[in-house]
Amino acid sequence: MQREFWATRVGFVLAAIGSAIGLGNIWRFGYLVYKNGGGAFLIPYFVALFVAGISLLILEFALGHKFRGSAPQALRAINKKFEWVGWWAVIGGLIITTYYCVIIAWALVYFTKAFTLAWGAETKAYYFGQILQLSDSPWDFGGFAVGVLIATAIVWAINWLIDFRGVRKGIEIANMILMPLLWILAIILVIRALTLPGAIEGIEWYLKPDFSKLADYNIWLSAFGQIFFTLSLGMGIMIAYASYLPEKSDLANNAFIVALANCAFSFLVGFAVFGTLGYMAYTTGSEIGDVVTQSIGLAFVVFPQALNLLPALKVFTAVVFFLALVVAGLSSSISLVEAVVSAMMDRFGIERREAVNIVVGIGFLGSLPYTTKAGLYWLDIVDHFVNYYGLVLVGLLEVIAAAWFFNLGDIRSHINAVSEIKVSSWWDFSVKFAVPAILLILLAFDVYYNLKEPYGGYSIDALIAGFGIILAGMVVSALLSWRGKDVS
Ligand code: ALA
Repeated sequence: MQREFWATRVGFVLAAIGSAIGLGNIWRFGYLVYKNGGGAFLIPYFVALFVAGISLLILEFALGHKFRGSAPQALRAINKKFEWVGWWAVIGGLIITTYYCVIIAWALVYFTKAFTLAWGAETKAYYFGQILQLSDSPWDFGGFAVGVLIATAIVWAINWLIDFRGVRKGIEIANMILMPLLWILAIILVIRALTLPGAIEGIEWYLKPDFSKLADYNIWLSAFGQIFFTLSLGMGIMIAYASYLPEKSDLANNAFIVALANCAFSFLVGFAVFGTLGYMAYTTGSEIGDVVTQSIGLAFVVFPQALNLLPALKVFTAVVFFLALVVAGLSSSISLVEAVVSAMMDRFGIERREAVNIVVGIGFLGSLPYTTKAGLYWLDIVDHFVNYYGLVLVGLLEVIAAAWFFNLGDIRSHINAVSEIKVSSWWDFSVKFAVPAILLILLAFDVYYNLKEPYGGYSIDALIAGFGIILAGMVVSALLSWRGKDVS
């Protein structure tokens, strides 16, 4: 089957940036910075970007481009034994997509509510009670939260439509529209926040480093996990996107552009988030560190509260904020879906349309548990496990495969033959030693602490079930790689 290609370099770069910039940059980045004490988080974040993120992005672009295949095919080309790692990336990505689309659905619901600021004064009760209708425990499913269910179906339908149309006519065109729109929305939000009284205190809190926090391993693990998530690494996405690049396409420079644009976006949105929180602290006479009690609900509980307090342009700002979340989310979810679609097409030789139908069908079914009244608990549990044992573990295995079971020099020559920026021995060192060592240490810490103190205070059976989903994904990956085919 003829592989599709991007029509333009800009199209590819925008699509990769679209994949990278997502809920992770607004919803997740905001609450991680908050949870980890503001500016303190930025140090490990940028260290993780430069030590591991960029090197790995260059590697993923190179794998997709050199071997012209999706993640399983590319890893199989390295060594047959590693095909399952590619599948694990893709299946992990699919697991992420199942809850990712539900968060986009929440944003969609809030977007419709923003026109009337329907959340009222009690934003916490509104989010947990009316929108999520949250039950008492993970096992108390209690039926569907119907609004969330309908919005989730709409989000999946949009993903279906865009991926069904293919690389050029679907993904590339969608990102050409969505990305400029998203930057405009973000800039509006930053300007709005910075013109509020008290904003400057919020910004100060956001930027002031607290070196004492750096001794906590958690902040480092969160930062590396976040860099993987935000750059869409370890999900098979960047490999699939790079496999659609024509032969003479820059890799290293494009990777720098994508990584820096993505982190610049997070950094920029931070000004909107913390400027607004600063204003909130100012009007309520509280400390910035006290205005938020709920990390995951930052975007849906605290932000609506802050929007209520705005002196002017409430509805406008609310609409812009939730639209930005939806747009950022969709440009990433289509890439998550595409990574699986591309792998299915490569593996089974089926047409795009058939692959899209299958992936969207399975994905929507997989989203259903998160649209129940216990959905938030499962989302939190699965998000935790899939990030570390999915993305970080896949990242580790990818570098091991490429650096220790293949001639890394070959990959570097391939990159340098097509790229404006030449990668030198720093890249080899990073991929071969630095990244695996850091990831191994972080994973070891995480396993140790998870065993010592179960994550998030959930009951052991719920955590086992959450981890079971990840294990099931691993088993499916192994089965899919069994008797895989070589890239033709
Ligand atoms: N990279 C995407 C995000 O940050 C998945 O949301």
